[in-house]
Amino acid sequence: MALFDQKPIKPDDDVVASRDSAALSVTAVENDFVERVYEKLAKVYDLTFGPTLHPGRVQAIQRMIAAPGSTILEVGVGTGINVPMYPRDCDIVGIDFSSSMLEKARERVERKGITNVRLLQMDAADLKFADNTFDIVYAPYLISVVPDPVKVAAEMHRVCKPGGHVIFLNHFRSRNPLLSRAERMISPFTVHIGFKADLDLPGFLAQAGLAPVSIEKVNIPRLWSLVTCVKDRAA
Ligand SMILES: C[S@@+](CC[C@H](N)C(=O)[O-])C[C@H]1O[C@@H](n2cnc3c(N)ncnc32)[C@H](O)[C@@H]1O
Repeated sequence: MALFDQKPIKPDDDVVASRDSAALSVTAVENDFVERVYEKLAKVYDLTFGPTLHPGRVQAIQRMIAAPGSTILEVGVGTGINVPMYPRDCDIVGIDFSSSMLEKARERVERKGITNVRLLQMDAADLKFADNTFDIVYAPYLISVVPDPVKVAAEMHRVCKPGGHVIFLNHFRSRNPLLSRAERMISPFTVHIGFKADLDLPGFLAQAGLAPVSIEKVNIPRLWSLVTCVKDRAA
């Protein structure tokens, strides 16, 4: 099933990695903290994180050439901002651990009359699905939010079917030394508005054991990345 336009990445592009977990970000968070932040953000999320991050969301779903009947899991579905964009002939499951964010998502689904989406409350680090369940497992703007991105990636990979796609849309630490230093400095503050500003992409990929088939820069400015991985058919 050819689900994506794939652009191979050069070996020296983004995947030379650190295996030091503390090096992924200078900031540590716990689920309770993140949950409290998003319970508060729910009312204003679409206004504050809606338009700025939307081009990346649109691009990710345009790349997602899902065959009719495909099963798609959105991890960290939030207010359901992506939900109206998924093909109506696919089965969508959206999970999130924030009841306030999920409430907004449920309102949106009802308002728009969307019938191909199930919304479930669940921790991304402990997905309640069997191995090899979904054709596409997609985490838009989630992986720099969670306490343990490597564990979440392992769960996403586990529930993805062999030959299926595991996709991350996220901001990662810049390769520009000045920007990178600034991102490390602000990361302890940005967690209070919902994300770590300094997650290291090469380190994350190496620790998660993922080798992407493509990494594309998205949004304006192009500080976010759309990272697409394919689960080995032999896995
Ligand atoms: C930045 S929002 C992204 C929302 C949406 N995917 C988007 O495109 O805007 C991150 C979402 O991840 C959820 N989240 C954070 N940690 C989580 C976890 N461990 N398990 C499930 N959801 C989590 C938050 O509640 C929030 O709704």
